[in-house]
Amino acid sequence: MTDKTAHTAKNAGGGDVRLSGISKSYGSFHAVRPLDLTIPQGSFFALLGASGCGKTTTLRMIAGLEDPTTGTVFLGDRDVTDLPPYKRPVNTVFQSYALFPHMNIFENIAFGLRRRGIKSVKPQVDEMIDLVQLGEHAHKKPHQLSGGQQQRVAVARALINHPQVLLLDEPLGALDLKLRRQMQLELKRIQTEVGITFVHVTHDQEEAMTMADQVAVMNGGRVEQLGAPADLYENPQTTFVANFLGTSNLIEAEVVETGADVLATAGGGRLRVPGARCTDAVRTGGKVLVGVRPEKITITHADDAGSIADGRNRVTGRIADSSFIGVSTQFVVNSPAGAELQVFEQNVERDTRLVPGAEVVLHWNPAHTFGLDAAQDIDAGVETVEDAA
Ligand SMILES: Nc1ncnc2c1ncn2[C@@H]1O[C@H](COP(=O)(O)OP(=O)(O)O)[C@@H](O)[C@H]1O
Ligand SMILES: [Mg+2]
Repeated sequence: MTDKTAHTAKNAGGGDVRLSGISKSYGSFHAVRPLDLTIPQGSFFALLGASGCGKTTTLRMIAGLEDPTTGTVFLGDRDVTDLPPYKRPVNTVFQSYALFPHMNIFENIAFGLRRRGIKSVKPQVDEMIDLVQLGEHAHKKPHQLSGGQQQRVAVARALINHPQVLLLDEPLGALDLKLRRQMQLELKRIQTEVGITFVHVTHDQEEAMTMADQVAVMNGGRVEQLGAPADLYENPQTTFVANFLGTSNLIEAEVVETGADVLATAGGGRLRVPGARCTDAVRTGGKVLVGVRPEKITITHADDAGSIADGRNRVTGRIADSSFIGVSTQFVVNSPAGAELQVFEQNVERDTRLVPGAEVVLHWNPAHTFGLDAAQDIDAGVETVEDAA
């Protein structure tokens, strides 16, 4: 890429990344199913899903490293489907950042400029070194830096080309947990500062939720749901999303009344779900999966059941397990309504009677309840592969 094209890319006003009917098959295997996705210009966008769901393939089709089997890739109004990678205003940062070991940090970052024949690289390289806060390390070699610092060099090395879109494929996967948390904040800051579109691939739901404005949750080559993190968390539309993002209690219940609220019964308890929070048209006599997050639930010893306010959803049960984790206690409760319900209770005033074996009532505000189509695998997304790459 010449310097001129780089600047054209920078100044073109960018535009959204738009995937239209994009798919990728290898023989009869569908790695990515036909997919329509708009990634708004300037957003921090995450592709989230378990290993093998098609994240990298999708990213590589945006980069031009993989030819789509069907569909079109647009950058703004421009169809780039047939452009080779080096002609796209896109740069990629990989998990294995492969810096040039014999060059110092300054030269690693300057590489893209030098390759384009630019002579006076110092102002731009210094600006990048400032951006990623590696000022005192400019003259070190990569092996003298920590993993997190090396990854920042990789980001600077990509950004110096002024891409319109930066693609990041599990860029923090090689870092330990604490460093990963720091780098999440760091990358978020850098994206805010430069304002270009970041498309970040990760299998770590916490990472996606912390960093992204918008998250596309992928499963089996499809996008199951797209939205802002809080929206996905509060309003999952499928069991996979409900279970993959955090933890959900899903209770199979029978619908006894429909209307503004849906009333359902499970294990002798009556549960109310706001009709607007049910993903499917529910009908009397049909089944619905009643969902509630563990932190929305209050746990009360059965002896005090009389003190629970009217109008709350409630199910009875027995504590199977409890673990004290400082800020909260996590309970596992077996109920006639469902096995192994999860409850997170903040440790404000601990009730010492709440130990395994105790009879309890779980209760929560019906507004915090959602309803999902019962014709799905209730356990979809429960097990996540932690070592995905
Ligand atoms: N070149 C290829 N040939 C055959 N199958 C492939 C190829 N590349 C990827 N796949 C398969 O496509 C699926 C999606 O892969 P990938 O996009 O790398 O997943 P992710 O990044 O979400 O882990 C996987 O099942 C993978 O094995
Ligand atoms: Mg991958």
